[in-house]
Formats: sequence, C-alpha cells, structure tokens
Amino acid sequence: MKTIVINNQKGGVGKTTLAVHLAWYLAETGLRVLIVDLDAQANATDTLAENRGQITAAELFKPTAQIAPVRGNGFTLAPADTSLTDVDRGDAVSILTLRQNLAAASEFFDACVIDTPPSLGLRSVAALVAATHVLSPVYLEDYSLKGVRGLLQTFLGVQKRYRSEAIFLGLLPSLFNSKSPRQRAHLEQLLRDAGKHVFPGHIVARDGYAEAVAERAPVWTLKRRSAQEAGREIRSVLAAIAERLN
Ligand SMILES: Nc1ncnc2c1ncn2[C@@H]1O[C@H](COP(=O)(O)OP(=O)(O)O)[C@@H](O)[C@H]1O
Ligand SMILES: [Mg+2]
Repeated sequence: MKTIVINNQKGGVGKTTLAVHLAWYLAETGLRVLIVDLDAQANATDTLAENRGQITAAELFKPTAQIAPVRGNGFTLAPADTSLTDVDRGDAVSILTLRQNLAAASEFFDACVIDTPPSLGLRSVAALVAATHVLSPVYLEDYSLKGVRGLLQTFLGVQKRYRSEAIFLGLLPSLFNSKSPRQRAHLEQLLRDAGKHVFPGHIVARDGYAEAVAERAPVWTLKRRSAQEAGREIRSVLAAIAERLN
C-alpha cells in the first residue's frame, strides 16, 4: 500500500483540498483508497462523510485497530473527531502504532492518503513515519525560505530517526495566482532556493474548489466552466503524483 501524507505545519495552504481530490482521483483510477483525517477540524471528514468507516483516525493510534473497507467500492474514511487532540498528548509510542495499523490494513487498500493538522505534533510525526510518500503544499503569498527549510528538515529528521524510506515528492505551490507579481516572484525565489525539492506543477487558485468541497464532489464533476478548468488543471497534477507512486 502506498501511503501519501499531505503535510505542512501551516494552515490554509490547501492540504485538505488536495488530500480529498487525490483520494477521489486515485479511487477513480480503480485503486482501493483509505483516507485518514488527522485534523480535529475535520474538514476532510465533513466532505467525505458518506465514506465513513468503522474505525476513527484517533483509534488508529491504539494497538491493533483493524480497519476494513466500507461497502464494495473500498473508498473508506477514517474520520477525525475532537479526541484527536488527545493523541498529541499521549505516549510517543503511538507514533509507531499508526504505521503498524496501516501496515495491517494494506491487504484491503492500495493507497492511503493522510491529511494532517496544521501543527507538528505527535500526529503529524506519526503520519510522516507511516508515509511512503510525502507531498507539501505551499502557499506562495507568504513564502519564506525559513518555512520551506523547516518542512524539509522535519521530513529528513523523521526519516533518519525512524529509519523510514519515505520519498519526498516535493513542495507543491498551491492556491497559486499566476497574475500576482508577488506570487510569481516567490515561485522564482522558491525554485532558486529549493528547486530540486519543488514538484513540477502547481494548483491554481480557483473558486471551484471551495464549491466542490462544500458539495462533496470532485471539482471536475461540477458544471461551471471555471470548475471544469480547475478540474483539468488539478487532474494533470494528480496524474503526475499518481505516476510517481509507482
Ligand atoms: N486551489 C484553490 N483555489 C481556491 N481556493 C482554495 C484552493 N485550495 C484551497 N482553497 C481554499 O482555501 C482554504 C484553505 O484550504 P484547505 O484545503 O482547507 O487548506 P489547509 O487544509 O491547508 O488548511 C479553504 O477555504 C479552501 O476552500
Ligand atoms: Mg486542512
């Protein structure tokens, strides 16, 4: 099972929007998908509620939690709830428990997408430890080299400490406005500072995303022309991500 963690300690950078669309996309390609919502704000959970499975995300931090697919289609959500914040105060041993429980689930699922909270607590570390791949959306409006370095250092630190072989897929510019000189300048700066860690592609800021998430449907299924355009754009990014999982 491929486990893709969408991670950035910052909020509002497009993590959840990307996580749910990646899950939808992978399910559409015929994969059996598990999505784990580790953010107590439960945005992904609200959007994907109809795929809710028996085991909550918080329960995945307890030994031998057995997660099974819902219904026939396999698309299953391990939902967030407020008890997730307690996980961060729990024993550090549960960092490894998440990885173990997901390993046990791998007979039922081909891909697992993990949405993370905007903080670097135990939950986020556990997600990075469980990851086979990590993708970090970045918002170029408030670009800072320090923030980018922090993301990469966290990834490398976890990789070393927990002997993980996770692959860093890259920093993915999100909510990108190509008409903004400020954002374009920041993108150029990011490419100069950390070019080899930048994912080839970006997700454009478009109205359709908020509507899609509210309507609980992928942006490419909405009728409005702007949503269709967003759909084409994000699908090409998602296809590039999917290709790198193999
Ligand atoms: N590509 C995009 N274009 C326009 N709005 C977006 C885009 N991605 C996310 N948003 C909006 O930005 C806000 C934060 O996005 P979200 O995915 O929840 O970020 P995070 O999970 O990092 O906090 C939400 O209101 C969401 O609808
Ligand atoms: Mg979020």
